[in-house]
This record gives sequence, structure tokens and C-alpha cells, in this order.
Amino acid sequence: MKEDFAKRIEHLRHDIRRHDHLYYVMAQPEISDQQYDRLFTELKDLEKAHPEFVTPDSPTQRVAGQPTHGFAQVRHSSPMLSIDNTYNADELRAFDARVRKILGPNTEYDYVVELKIDGLAISLRYENARLVTAATRGDGVTGDEVTPNVRTIKSVPLVLHEKKSVPEIFEVRGEIYMPTSSFTALNQARAAVGEPLFANPRNAAAGSLKLLDSSITATRKLAFFAYAAGEISEEVADTHWDLLQAFKKFGLPVNPHIEKAADIDSVIKICEKWDAKRKDLPYQIDGMVIKVNQLNLRETLGFTGRAPRWCISYKFAAEQAATKVLSIEVNVGKSGIVTPVAIFDPVALAGTTVKRASLHNFEELARHDIRVGDTVIIEKAGEIIPQVIEVKTDLRPAHTKPYKPPQNCPVCSSELVKDPQGVYLRCLNTDCLGTLNERLIYFAGRDQMDIRSVGPALIDSLVSSGLVNNFADLYKLKKEDLLSLERLAEKSASNIISAIEQSKHQPLSRFITALGIRHIGSQSAEILANHFGSLDAIINADIETLETLEGIGPILAKSIHQYFRDPANIKVIHQLLAAGVQAKHTSQKASSALEGKTFVVTGTLQDFSRSEIEQAIKDNGGKVSSSVSKNTDYLLAGAEAGSKLQKATELGVTVIDEEEFKKMLASDKPKQKKPLREKGLFDA
Ligand code: IVH
Repeated sequence: MKEDFAKRIEHLRHDIRRHDHLYYVMAQPEISDQQYDRLFTELKDLEKAHPEFVTPDSPTQRVAGQPTHGFAQVRHSSPMLSIDNTYNADELRAFDARVRKILGPNTEYDYVVELKIDGLAISLRYENARLVTAATRGDGVTGDEVTPNVRTIKSVPLVLHEKKSVPEIFEVRGEIYMPTSSFTALNQARAAVGEPLFANPRNAAAGSLKLLDSSITATRKLAFFAYAAGEISEEVADTHWDLLQAFKKFGLPVNPHIEKAADIDSVIKICEKWDAKRKDLPYQIDGMVIKVNQLNLRETLGFTGRAPRWCISYKFAAEQAATKVLSIEVNVGKSGIVTPVAIFDPVALAGTTVKRASLHNFEELARHDIRVGDTVIIEKAGEIIPQVIEVKTDLRPAHTKPYKPPQNCPVCSSELVKDPQGVYLRCLNTDCLGTLNERLIYFAGRDQMDIRSVGPALIDSLVSSGLVNNFADLYKLKKEDLLSLERLAEKSASNIISAIEQSKHQPLSRFITALGIRHIGSQSAEILANHFGSLDAIINADIETLETLEGIGPILAKSIHQYFRDPANIKVIHQLLAAGVQAKHTSQKASSALEGKTFVVTGTLQDFSRSEIEQAIKDNGGKVSSSVSKNTDYLLAGAEAGSKLQKATELGVTVIDEEEFKKMLASDKPKQKKPLREKGLFDA
């Protein structure tokens, strides 16, 4: 009897998966929504009656999902690279000429041309055809583990088809995106309840994927296209085209508009065609991606810095729009910098309505002579941030006047001060409420205290309601305080309180960064934390010691010293500590494989950028130095290594290459499976 239920459950799952694939991937449903719902309800009921048969890959498990706490970090088995950009036909021809030059006149090759989907890259790891992890690109080397959220995306198969022919380890890379219609609907719904709007579908997709509660992700209608392979335990194709066909066979969605091109002229034609047609697509693309089709040629072609030479993107020119400047407002930023902002007659541009744009600083404003009443041409930099690129002086109405910069802070009225050599006007009042907002936004930001769900809109109401007057006040907030704010629901209030609570454990370096000390970003904060080891020691450091630290010059030293001599700052720090913020130094070592060893890196590496390799050395307990000396343990030499290599040889320093370096790392982690294919072939 029990076996019968198990059989029926398996049968239903199989059917539902097939219909999901037909509906979400092939866009060719075979049954009506009602019929589908019937199957789904039957499965749900059976699983409810027999919970012992519920498995995580059941189609019923897509929707809900346990809230995750923060995100674990995943180290990609092969780095997720970026692509170099081209902007016109000549640059595409130059790309092809380089490919031809490297491969020689007798090698035959062709291209695959794909749409460049404007979403975010994801790496899906299937083991024995089951989805085991999904990770964002992150910095290319490590990303956030977002598996529960990705499981809610219907076009991502939880189990691959043709299980027997799927390699045991099968890592697929692709783009998660939000279709334009879902994006518009989402923003409309958010506007209706006064929530902040997403600037574009890419931000909306990224925001939806990084939610701690996957049941909300499930409502966001994200979708996925596969376009590359990561680690794969067995080859499935010789060409990229055939790889994409294999993806389809395994049930993965591949964009239907992929095309083969025999030569660069055909590539250019396809790119131009899509530049004209992109408006008709149901999702946004920001260009095209062109890939050498023959996978065996990829190794020969190699890499430059962090991008492969077998792949290039063709970016479409940014869309432009003309609009009128209605007024020029003045904003106060985190460090008191006062910036002019143009307010426009709202205009549609590249998928969003643009109402304002930063004019950066008053010198820039004067240089363009932007006046209230002017008609200006705006463009989106990187398709996101609107910028004024031209003033139509011929359309200027009579009697306009050049804009006069303010002399006082628009928020607290203190006199503004001009940076000695710089172009900025600054409000120096540390208690200015204008700077408080921005400082709090930065404090709570992702790379600082990372207080998820405390964003600009909430901070705005916390400050204007008087609940928060400094960083420490955040930690004094109670759920009731939050509930007293308009439009904040019980559940959001609890989430906010627990996010604030969690942030107390952020390490010392993030805490120092979060304070927003002038000139002190995450790198300098890390230097301070590593050197001094405790908050007390940093606060008490004298200026001479600070100045001598590698990476901290006199300007930074002075800024740090000054900051901690201000009693107002110390008072807030004490309050933060009293509220339970730990600010403890933790070394974030992945392993001690390189403990105590000093490395110098030179030449171009294949799989790491310069900052990635330096991070990898530090993460594993090693030190990085910029010049070769007798204290250097290893010179890690990439392609085209120059004088450093010579010096190392002279001094008898051990020279290693990238492969040997990777072996050193792996030697400390016997349990971690080594990627079977680390080099170029299938990297993405
Ligand atoms: S291939 C080494 N193909 O563009 C090649 N990327 O600017 C790896 N993207 O991070 C990527 N559509 O997020 C590739 N058809 C496509 C793509 C695509 C969008 C994104 C991807 C990547 C970024 C590079």
C-alpha cells in the first residue's frame, strides 16, 4: 500500500517536472493551468499525508523554503570570469584579428553569438543530476550561496533530464534575470505600498536573489538562461554550440536566439540586428556576447587579466533622452560633501522613468553651465545611473541665470567649506542630520555592518521620527519602536531587529569601515585590524605608528588619529560596545597552507586577477610583498614575467607557476574535491 503511494508520488513529480519544463523552458505547455494545478494539488496532498516521502527536489518544495541567515560563501571551482567589451564594428574586427593571429592562418574556427542578458551571473552545481548548490558570481572567486532562493526559480531544473548521460559533476553557469513585465508589475506593487522602487530589472533580480526569505524570492518571477559550463567531470561536447544543445537535452533553458556565425562580418550583422530589435524582447539585454565555438581552441587563446581571449561582448550604445531641468537641489552626503542634483521633467529612458541626476559637484555644474529651465540630453551610464551629457544652449529660454552654489548647508545651515585642493563643498558639522542619514546608510551597508533590510527609506524614517540620532541608537531600537513607524508590518519589524542583532558580530575591520572615517575604506580598515588586533589598540595608536604602516600614508594616519580624538565619536563607540557590538578581530583564513610564507606576484595569471591572487594568498595565511628580496619565499610568475623573475633567479628565490600555487593550496585541504577541469576550456 505504502509503495503505491510512493510510486504515485514519483509519477506525479515526474509529470509535473515535465510540464514545468514545457511551460517555463520550452514555452510550449501541453496541458491547461487547471490540469496542472490538479496534478500539483494531488502531489501536495499525498506528501502531506505521507511526509516521509517529501524530498527537497520535489516540485512542491520550490515555493516555500526556510529563511536563511546571511549567506554562506562558496569558492567557485573555477573562477567566474568577466568579459572584455567592444562598442563598435571596428573593435569587433580587432578582436577577430587577434584571435586569427594567435590561432594562425590555417586554423578553422567559427563563432556563436548570444544575447547578453542583463541580469546576474549564477553558477549551478549539479551532482548526479541533482541541483546541490547555486552561487552568485561574487568577486569571481567566491560568491554567495543562494541555493534556497534559486530553487524557487521555475526555469531552473532541480533534477536534470537524461540523468544517465549527465556527467556526475556538472556545473552550469548562466544568467538569472527578471522579465520586463514582472519588473514593471513588481515596481507598481511596491509603489502602491510606498516601498522603494528598483532602478532596473537587473537590480530587481539581484535584490530578489539576495533575500533572506526564499518564499519572497518565489513571488518575484525570476528566470534563468544557461550559457556556459564550470567544472564538469566528463566532456559532453567539442563545441560551445553542442554544449548548449546538451544543456537543452538535460532540460536547461538556453536562450532561443543563439546563432552561429562563420566570420566576423556575420557577427557584426547579428549584433546590429539585435541592437534594433532589442526593444521587442520580453527581457532586457545590454549587448551581445561572441564566443569562439571550438572549445579546444580556448586554451590556446588564453586570457588577458581576468577576461578570456576567446570571448568578447559587444555593448549597445546607451539610450539617450531629452528633458527639461525643473530645479537644482542640493544633497548632503556621508562625509558632509554637498552635491548638486538636477530635477527633471520625468522622462522614460532605457526601461525606467528618470526624474533626477547627480551633477557631481559645483565645478562640473559651472563647466556645463546647467541652468534651471534648460533642455538637457541625458544618458544612462552603464545603463543605470542617469547623467547629463549635453546642454542644449540653443533651446535655452530667455532670462535664465547661471546657477549659484550655496554657501550654507541646506540641512543644518552651517557654513560650507571648500576642500583645500578639491572641488567639493563640505558641511563640517558632525551632528548635521543631512550627513547622519548618509552615514547610517553606509554604516548599515552590505560591505560594512551588513544590516539587511535597513536601507535608505527606513533610515530616512528612523532619523526623521527622531528614533535614531547616531549609530548606537540603531542597537537600542525595539520592535515596538519600529511598529510605530508607518507601514511597517510585524514580520518586517522582527526581521529588522534580528538583522541588527546579527550585525553585532561583524569583525573589527568591517566595524572600522562602517564608522565612515574619512579616507578609510575596507582595505585600510583591514590593515588596521590586522596590525593592531583590537579596537582599543587602534583608538590609542599614535600618529607615528599609524604613518609607518604599509598602506597607510600620512593623510590616512592623520584622519584616523583625528577621528578617535573627537570625544563625540568615542562616546558613540562606547555606546555601540555597550549595546553588544563586538568589533572583534577575526582572521578570515581559509587554511594555513601558506602560513608564514612571503609571496611576490609578477606577470599575467590565467585564473586570477591581481587582487584575487593577493586575497587568496592572504586567505591561506601567506603574505604578499611588492618587491623581491632575500626574504621572499616564492615568486609566483605568470606569463610575461620581467625583471622580478630575473631578480628572483639571481637571489635564488623559489619560482613557482599558477599550477604549483594551486597545488600548494590544495595540499592543505585533502577533503575538498579538486576541480577536474581547472583550465580554460569550460570556464565561465
Ligand atoms: S559568457 C567568460 N554569455 O555578462 C565568459 N555572459 O560582462 C563568461 N552575460 O558575468 C560569461 N549574457 O553575467 C556570457 N550569453 C552570455 C551572457 C553573459 C549575460 C553576463 C554574465 C557575465 C557578464 C560579463
